[in-house]
Amino acid sequence: MTTLTSYLDQHSTNTELNDVITTVTNVGKTISQLLRKGALADILGEAGNQNVQGEDQKKLDVLANDLLLDALAKNTHCAGVASEELDNATPANADGSLLVLFDPLDGSSNIDINMAVGTIFSILPYQRQGQTSENSDFLQAGNQQLAAGYLLYGTSTVLALTITENVVMFSLDPDTGDYVLIEDNVQIDADTSEYAINSSNYRYWRAPMQQYIDELIAGEAGVRGRDFNTRWVAAMVGDVHRILCRGGLFTYPFDTKYAHKAGKLRLMYEANPMSLLIERAGGGATDAVNRILDIEPTDIHQRVPVVLGSKNEVDYVKDLHVNYSEK
Ligand code: AHG
Ligand code: MN
Ligand code: MN
Repeated sequence: MTTLTSYLDQHSTNTELNDVITTVTNVGKTISQLLRKGALADILGEAGNQNVQGEDQKKLDVLANDLLLDALAKNTHCAGVASEELDNATPANADGSLLVLFDPLDGSSNIDINMAVGTIFSILPYQRQGQTSENSDFLQAGNQQLAAGYLLYGTSTVLALTITENVVMFSLDPDTGDYVLIEDNVQIDADTSEYAINSSNYRYWRAPMQQYIDELIAGEAGVRGRDFNTRWVAAMVGDVHRILCRGGLFTYPFDTKYAHKAGKLRLMYEANPMSLLIERAGGGATDAVNRILDIEPTDIHQRVPVVLGSKNEVDYVKDLHVNYSEK
């Protein structure tokens, strides 16, 4: 049996990184326990305020954020944190070598209905050790990430992690509190017949995305010549986990539903960590034209269209967009 602790010892000589990953995943155990208690822990419902992005915060959004923030503030290797729920990045320990970005609770609309939610995290190097970290220190492309992962609080709690070229998965044993290795080299098939998109936004998409979904719905009778199947968890963590388990395509595309938003998902603590996991598992991750991991961020909360998953299907979507813009 390989636990997370022994895996980190064996595969990473960066003890500071290992320590920060341990802090984040330990908080995940607490969040997991709270979710198991559900209404009995008084964690359901609205917090009564909005985050910087104008989204209503749930109690658990705030609680998960506070738990991560408190734990990371005490970790001497963490120089600062950026979170979906914090207007600005928060400095931690100036001598730390690492920056941690997270979506403390992904899939907020699932909390109150007892469905899957998660925590997504990304760890970047800190370049100005000894000085207080600022927002600008976090503005590094996803290809700079030292580690990325998520915790999925589903029927069981699973950790997906990448610190080397491999993507690995652990399952939380509720009896011992250990994360136990269950997959040591996750690989995604290049082809798939399953896709995830919130189709209610169809009228807001660009023409090539509309064409793509039209083709999938046409199935065997259309140009693709085979039937496709839809799945939508409404928590990116759940959809990405399904793709790591059995392939598929996930997209939250560019839409014009909200002015000045290039899609819904956030680059730095949703798209980047998920893209690193997906690419390292052999899949693709693009904003429909460019590789997500190469995007130079300008804002810690910036949004980005996301198309990720099985490589050939992601390339197909990308080709539709590139060919459309060249017409
Ligand atoms: P969050 O709960 O952190 O705001 O993220 C929710 C995101 C993502 O996880 C999911 O794929 C998407 O929002 C669901 O959006 P719709 O409600 O538009 O389906
Ligand atoms: Mn999210
Ligand atoms: Mn969230």
